[in-house]
Amino acid sequence: MGNKRLETVVGGVRMDTPVIIASGVWPMDPGLWPSGSMDGVGAVCSKGITLSPRKGNTGVRIFETPSGMLNSIGLQNPGVSAFIDEDLGPLSSAGFPVIVNVAFGSLEELDDTVHILEKSVDKIGAIELNVSCPNVSSGGMSWGTLPSSLEEAVGGARAAWNGPLWVKLTPQAWSIADASKVCENAGADAVVVGNTWLGMAVDNQNEKPFFDRVFAGLSGPAIFPLSLRMVWEAAGSVAIPVIGCGGVSGPDEALSMMLAGASAIQAGTSLFVESRLPSLICRGLIEHMDSHSLENAVALTGRARPEKGAATQKC
Ligand SMILES: Cc1cc2nc3c(=O)[nH]c(=O)nc-3n(C[C@H](O)[C@H](O)[C@H](O)COP(=O)(O)O)c2cc1C
Repeated sequence: MGNKRLETVVGGVRMDTPVIIASGVWPMDPGLWPSGSMDGVGAVCSKGITLSPRKGNTGVRIFETPSGMLNSIGLQNPGVSAFIDEDLGPLSSAGFPVIVNVAFGSLEELDDTVHILEKSVDKIGAIELNVSCPNVSSGGMSWGTLPSSLEEAVGGARAAWNGPLWVKLTPQAWSIADASKVCENAGADAVVVGNTWLGMAVDNQNEKPFFDRVFAGLSGPAIFPLSLRMVWEAAGSVAIPVIGCGGVSGPDEALSMMLAGASAIQAGTSLFVESRLPSLICRGLIEHMDSHSLENAVALTGRARPEKGAATQKC
């Protein structure tokens, strides 16, 4: 895109634009990226990476819903060592900061995974800690749903990793404002708000839940107003940057998230519909900057807030 007005530094990562490809929706092989789809992209998130390889969930994994989709992929990934050996090199040579999304079942697993990633720190823009994954020692509740487990996870990652650390919150958290504060106090450089919403579908014909694991994650335009509300809450609670994610399907949603307090946005599901979404978003941001006489995209952050402009210096 090459427009200096879009450049930004968010949570310790310098990006050409504030538009990030969300975790799990994009091929990790740059050779498979649709032509023109990377125009306007500021950074790319990897799929969720775990210590050991994971085959993912059995049964049906995707279900289309009105204005969105449910997914139950189950963190299928090659494991951190194969990710480093096979995917990280090509990804990091593609010209975008690579945000490595890390999933884990225990603190030991998290520590081991992050220490392995440490050896490739020069190829990694940031770690994005996925606290939506289940804590095996607490009966499978997500790390991010309770203050104590969230603090342990973020503190554990912070102790093992010196580079930029983003925490991707779960909408199932007890309070997004408080969860963001816990992350900030535990040393996170940014919060990503947020992951998918738990939903489900029933196979009426066969009279059983559609997914083998019953619940699945809802994403896409259907969740946008919920995500926007969470961005607003998070941005009102912390001084570290907030990255908006959930249901962004065009420039208007991206802009709303930034005006509500996001320093950058992530797009996922809507890329399946429009692979050139990042460049469309960038064009929309520039149009708004022009019509409101704003010098750069950094100045968009928080302009819809009562304390207007107060958040614009966050980076
Ligand atoms: C097929 C699929 C796979 C996903 N995999 C991951 C993942 O591995 N780690 C993660 O943190 N989020 C994952 N997500 C969540 C997205 O990164 C994003 O947070 C969510 O879909 C909301 O954004 P969206 O509405 O723009 O898609 C996945 C989403 C989808 C649809």
